[in-house]
Amino acid sequence: MNRRHITQRQLETFATVARLGSFSRAAETLHLTQPAVSIQTKQLSETIGLPLFEQIGRDIRLTAAGEELQATVRALDDEWARFDSAIGALWGMHSGRLRVALVTTAKYFLPRMLGAFCRRYPHIDVQLEITNRAGVVARMRGNEDDLYIMSLPPADMDIVVRPFLDNPLVVVAPLGHAAAGRRCTLDELAGESFLLREPGSGSRAAVDRHLQKLEKSLRVRLTVASNEAIRDLVASDLGLSILSRHSLAADPADDGICILDVEHFPIQQPWSIVHLKGKVLSLPAQAFIGELVQTSQA
Ligand code: PGA
Repeated sequence: MNRRHITQRQLETFATVARLGSFSRAAETLHLTQPAVSIQTKQLSETIGLPLFEQIGRDIRLTAAGEELQATVRALDDEWARFDSAIGALWGMHSGRLRVALVTTAKYFLPRMLGAFCRRYPHIDVQLEITNRAGVVARMRGNEDDLYIMSLPPADMDIVVRPFLDNPLVVVAPLGHAAAGRRCTLDELAGESFLLREPGSGSRAAVDRHLQKLEKSLRVRLTVASNEAIRDLVASDLGLSILSRHSLAADPADDGICILDVEHFPIQQPWSIVHLKGKVLSLPAQAFIGELVQTSQA
């Protein structure tokens, strides 16, 4: 293989097809025609001497060679980010890039903290990804971002975890519920229907884990992949739920719901800033961690 025949442009095109799993969407993103994208990846695979993608039904998957190349492109990307921030240091944080992936429930407070950071460092290019916990863990496995914000970091990965803020999960009911305003037990709510987040959500995993520890179960009526939708369904009397306090209004009554005082609740767990152990953090990433820790202590 003659490496000198591999161009930056080909690698960028390859990485975009790999990320989006589609030649046509990659063409759209890169403002190229689809044949141009196909030609570039074909030339790249000819230089390497092995196919990079395989077609399975309508899906495009990476071959083993494709996976190796994707890991290499990400490592190169990390090196460039490091270089970028070394240059940024010479400029005094006047350039650089910060990629953060956060779980859906963190969107209620993180953007505000990010806003302060963006105002302080207007030349840093910030890219935010918001998805549920399973999505964030998948991104972490692929080394796609600098930092991850979540409350249940995966136990099987080599990562650095830094808790910075409480994330209590509370039992919520429609306003005026019979158990409101007094202490009650989970057993008293055994007859109630519950609406919970989808499997793959961090909130759901925390609830399942907690109930398992208590050796209790709930009657789950509906599984919904949105805190807002659950909040509205609870307000319209469809059942109770267990949600992050952060997903509720300062006064939950404004949304037609109340927090019940249930024994063994709230589930206490912190929000954490997480990154891969081997990752050399760029200056913007270090500055952002400092900002989060400082704001959360204010
Ligand atoms: P979720 O994650 O938004 O996927 O429920 C929340 C969490 O990690 O606590």
